[in-house]
Amino acid sequence: MKTLVIGTGGREHALAWALARDPGVSEVHAAPGNPGMAAVATLHEVDPLDGAAVAALAASLGVDLVVVGPEAPLVAGVADAVRAAGIAAFGPSAQAAQLEGSKAFAKEVMDAAGVPTARAFVCRTLDEAAAALDELGAPYVVKDDGLAAGKGVVVTESREEALAHAAACERLVVEEYLDGPEVSLFALCGWNEADGATVRPLQPAQDFKRIHDGDEGPNTGGMGAYTPLPWAPAGLVDQLVATVLQPTVDELARRGTPFTGLLYAGLALTSRGLQVVEFNARFGDPETQPLLALLESPLGELLLAAATGRLAEVPPPVFADGAAVAVVMASRGYPVTSSSGDVITGVEAAESLDGVHVFHAGTALHEGELVTAGGRVLAVVGTGPDVATARTTAYAGVDRISFAGAQHRTDIAGAAAVSPGTR
Ligand code: AMP
Ligand code: GLY
Repeated sequence: MKTLVIGTGGREHALAWALARDPGVSEVHAAPGNPGMAAVATLHEVDPLDGAAVAALAASLGVDLVVVGPEAPLVAGVADAVRAAGIAAFGPSAQAAQLEGSKAFAKEVMDAAGVPTARAFVCRTLDEAAAALDELGAPYVVKDDGLAAGKGVVVTESREEALAHAAACERLVVEEYLDGPEVSLFALCGWNEADGATVRPLQPAQDFKRIHDGDEGPNTGGMGAYTPLPWAPAGLVDQLVATVLQPTVDELARRGTPFTGLLYAGLALTSRGLQVVEFNARFGDPETQPLLALLESPLGELLLAAATGRLAEVPPPVFADGAAVAVVMASRGYPVTSSSGDVITGVEAAESLDGVHVFHAGTALHEGELVTAGGRVLAVVGTGPDVATARTTAYAGVDRISFAGAQHRTDIAGAAAVSPGTR
């Protein structure tokens, strides 16, 4: 099987790396890709938002499967364009991707499907937003309705700050604050006329969204992640499939817009039970990096089966025992700004350590040297028999790598490593 991965991030590097390990995959192509992906894939130029261009590239390469990594191309209909050209695509249609593309749409689907989520108001004016804030009270949660590359959500005790964010959004959702630890659960989803929607969950992961240790500072795209969650209640995955994932994909199928691809449920284990914080229509970053580091099943077979309505026919995903921890190294100024052109050293030294994988996100080659080229630069993954070992391994990798202004959190998976019962 020949495959093409669309995107440039750490998630796409991990996808290309895992595809390259699948004995059933003969070729991995990536576009636009990044310097790290060049080790496992052949890179091509393409505008990832241009469906016709992506479909033409896929046709010219003769690939059997296109994997669309990021949300913006999915919302723009790139998977539809690939399918229209007669090539299998892993990734939802533009309509199904509205689950991520519009928070209001996601709320409407959850409502119709009876999926537990925070009480919310969709607002179009500042007056409506102010009324919603006062109705729900602090802490305030204000979300831009549309895609905002990790910058759409403000959680704050300050009514003023909440209103300022509301003023910057055209359409927004004000919702109830959810307490409790967060869990990311990803599921491969497929659909066919005869069987309806099939859901195959991966194992739960947790990401760390704030820039600083102790969950301080602004939200980012994600500063680290680990899997599995030793503290997760027994039966959590089955419960989430039954109460969240299956009802959601069934509702989309009922509307005539079945979901094919990766459904990402961001959940809070609140004092009032499980609640959905958000849906994404693609693999999460950086959770994908530790998850795929532990995946034992052939990824190409799973993604092709999902893309072609045969997911129920192949063995469900299997993960290695043990744990994986990803620590993101970000550039100076992130998440407010980012820095480009800082020379990165030590990646090979890190990768020479047992159990370390380095996935590139914001990197470039400049005159033969690896340099920073974005906010999140690298995700350093460590694997090991338990969270504590995996974490030590990941940080040993981080310690080998340096670039001017590098930032990373020092507490990724820290609590779970010290005391496996806590997050
Ligand atoms: P989202 O883009 O919806 O994932 O939001 C980004 C982050 O904001 C989430 O991972 C949470 O940490 C936080 N967040 C979002 N919604 C809520 C909520 N209702 N209550 C508390 N925190 C939230
Ligand atoms: N890990 C957060 C995201 O991918 O949105």
